[in-house]
Amino acid sequence: MAVASSLPHVLVTGGAGFIGSHTVLELVNQGYNVVVVDNLCNSCEEPLRRIQKLAGLPQPLPFHNIDLTDREGLRQVFQQHNITSVIHFAALKAVGESVHKPLMYYRNNITGTLNLVETMVEFGVKNIVFSSSATVYAADYDGNALRESNELGCTSPYGRTKLFMENIIKDVVDAEQGWNAIMLRYFNPTGAHESGTMGEDPQQIPNNLMPYISQVAIGKLEKVHVFGTDYNTRDGTGVRDYIHVMDLAEAHVVALKRLTNNNGYEIFNLGSGTGQTVLEMIAAMKEACGRDIPYVNDPRRAGDIDTILCDPTKASKELGFTVHRDLKQMCADLWRWQQNNPNGYS
Ligand code: NAD
Ligand code: WQD
Repeated sequence: MAVASSLPHVLVTGGAGFIGSHTVLELVNQGYNVVVVDNLCNSCEEPLRRIQKLAGLPQPLPFHNIDLTDREGLRQVFQQHNITSVIHFAALKAVGESVHKPLMYYRNNITGTLNLVETMVEFGVKNIVFSSSATVYAADYDGNALRESNELGCTSPYGRTKLFMENIIKDVVDAEQGWNAIMLRYFNPTGAHESGTMGEDPQQIPNNLMPYISQVAIGKLEKVHVFGTDYNTRDGTGVRDYIHVMDLAEAHVVALKRLTNNNGYEIFNLGSGTGQTVLEMIAAMKEACGRDIPYVNDPRRAGDIDTILCDPTKASKELGFTVHRDLKQMCADLWRWQQNNPNGYS
């Protein structure tokens, strides 16, 4: 159980997860006091111990194993700590699973967010950075880079929960005095902390390309299944905009600082602005790990489109954020993490 403190704290929901843990490390390194809430449904406590070690913290990070759907549990966290702002990562995120278990996604993601925002209202906490996703954009079949002003439209229950969560927060900002909220719409996060001690730790066979490739590289999976080779792209495979998780982590701290500008409700894309095909990602990982990465061509995955690219102009101009880490570093860091931790955190 965490120790009470009157110092201002940033509450990080989902702080034991992939992007949350890297962001917590960045926050701590920049001098913030952090309290983590996570029910560990897709993570474990080990990344929090590794953050403590990497950041040289004398005490364990304040951590509460609480489900956001447990309103009373959440209230106790707000009672115990002087929370002044929130970064909200906690959500279920598997697109395919959400199609088969929509109610589980709506209950977890929407109820969790309602509880969080209601508790923030109750305790007068009015600053929030929210993990949104490029999945909220309507498909652009021409492959143009997506701007924040693009048409919205989701094709999965997961995507719809993200859009609803954005809207819940927007309505509260509009209705209540003094609220500041920044929606960060991530494109395709990958990579790992450069130390090789923190990274993504999928609990099942990975759904996403990069953790799948890295598990093939380490020999846990036999070969990569390339979903579709007849897309209208330079080599026929899907193009996506990959962003290093430490760039994302830094962007969250920049966004947190910006909340003090009192700009109300804002939205920013987080991506690099350049795209890579599936085959280019396989080649880049092959280069990083110096091993062959076998793959097989498979049919298209339902719901996928040719190209999803980020237009990062607004984040660059208004947030002052641009990515610093390139594809080579993403793959090198991902491989270091995978090699040092073949079984993830377990
Ligand atoms: P993750 O699963 O690693 O992290 C989410 C964390 O939230 C996990 O530790 C999980 O245990 C926790 N959690 C989930 N439901 C909870 C609940 N009800 N109460 C308390 N804790 C709960 O996922 P991630 O990749 O780190 O994603 C973080 C956020 O970023 C999510 O909101 C996701 O929708 C969003 N996002 C992720 C990606 C991506 O590709 N990884 C892309 C765009 C947006
Ligand atoms: C990338 C490319 C696949 C796996 C998803 C979510 C999105 C966001 C990010 C949360 C595509 C191809 C994949 C494989 C493959 N998450 N692929 N073999 O689909 O762009 O985005 O994660 O918000 O909402 O939809 O990412 O990594 O699954 O796929 O060939 O085993 O790799 O077809 O072209 P995606 P991804």
